[in-house]
Amino acid sequence: MSSQVSDRVVFDPYDYATQDDPYPLYRRLRDEEPLHHNAEHDFWVLSRHADVAAALRDDATYSNRMGVSLDASSWHPEAHRVMSFLALDAPEQTRIRSLVSRAFTPRRVRELIPQVQGLTDRYLDAALEGADGAEGDEAELDWIEQLAGKLPMDVISEMMGVPEADRDEVRRLSDLLVHREDGLHDVPPAGMEAAMTLFGYYTDLLAARRAQPTDDLTSALLAAEVDGDRLDDGEIIAFLFLMVVAGNETTTKLLGNALHHLAAQPDQMTAVFAEPDTLVVPWIEETLRHDTSSQILARHLRADVELHGRTAPAGAKLLVLLGSANRDERVFERPDVYDVHRDKRELGQILSFGGGRHFCLGANLARLEARIVLEELVRRVGRVEVDVERSVRVHSTNVRGFAQLPVRVHRRSTP
Ligand code: HEM
Repeated sequence: MSSQVSDRVVFDPYDYATQDDPYPLYRRLRDEEPLHHNAEHDFWVLSRHADVAAALRDDATYSNRMGVSLDASSWHPEAHRVMSFLALDAPEQTRIRSLVSRAFTPRRVRELIPQVQGLTDRYLDAALEGADGAEGDEAELDWIEQLAGKLPMDVISEMMGVPEADRDEVRRLSDLLVHREDGLHDVPPAGMEAAMTLFGYYTDLLAARRAQPTDDLTSALLAAEVDGDRLDDGEIIAFLFLMVVAGNETTTKLLGNALHHLAAQPDQMTAVFAEPDTLVVPWIEETLRHDTSSQILARHLRADVELHGRTAPAGAKLLVLLGSANRDERVFERPDVYDVHRDKRELGQILSFGGGRHFCLGANLARLEARIVLEELVRRVGRVEVDVERSVRVHSTNVRGFAQLPVRVHRRSTP
């Protein structure tokens, strides 16, 4: 069923046509009904950049206390048990986030550079086998299955201190946790089961680090202290889960979307591959703007919201559309055009990592991973072609990107 059966705009994130390309509908929402109500699912929607940015900064009105997900089973006041401070408001959010920030420091992220590089090399070595001979050699690989779908979770495991021998299994469980079959709107039984198994695993990891601390993040979380206050075991485990839920699939999708969009613009690809030192970072930022992996966040209204001549009542569920805000023509020139040369000041306005007190704690890490992976790819290959016909998108209400992205790469000619 199309989302645009009548003249009146209807936004239904469960509709596959909308998931395939939500952007024309986002534009209609911004122009025709900037505060929209979906009667069938009973939620409200904000789509303009200014409104989304303001909502993200006002957690007294737009609360995270019920979680941020559309899934009915994740929408309840206990959501913080698995989503930690993402599903809390101030002052509880502030307390846990400041304790976690003692351990999850910019320095710890910077120190991960050799590990991220090592993982990138390992996956690219395997994926490019066959293109390692003469110049012009080609290799075919699936960018998601062979690299982008693996590396972000391995980096999180590396940070937490999960031993190498356990990482494949932890990645399998984490994938089950966030995976949704097409057509399913909620957490499937396999996901619930994986959550229980992971919970047991992280509980054991915590006990081991308490007995014998190391220099990993888990040990640092156990030691973190602000004015005598510490995190208890439940709070630490909820945060470990939050990293998996917030930092795994989102980064995978960023890596996939980056390749998908650049490959569709041969001139821009030539420019990026000729000048990686200056253009890889703008390539990442423009991908985050143009087609961000986390499209929608839910909020619970604590008060009536009156905007654009309508009122969303206190107690309602309201969605903020990050993906729409990033395409708002009121802020971005030619917003539907993918352009790695876009003005830096415009890119500074993207809302892909949220804003306000819940601004993504892992933004630096996600950007670091993307830079290392994409720079290494450019170093090794001279050109990438994406097989658009065989690419498979995930059908998801809020995550945007690919489950499979077959690509052909050509070995770089040595200068
Ligand atoms: C491209 C990759 C990523 C994107 C697009 C992304 C996006 C976001 C967004 C939009 C939020 C705000 C949620 C809200 O306001 O309700 C958020 C929060 C968060 N993200 Fe990320 N994220 C990414 C990667 C990561 C990574 C790699 C990690 C860590 C390993 C991470 C950890 C977190 C955490 C802990 C929060 C909660 C912050 C809080 O509630 O105070 N994210 N992320």
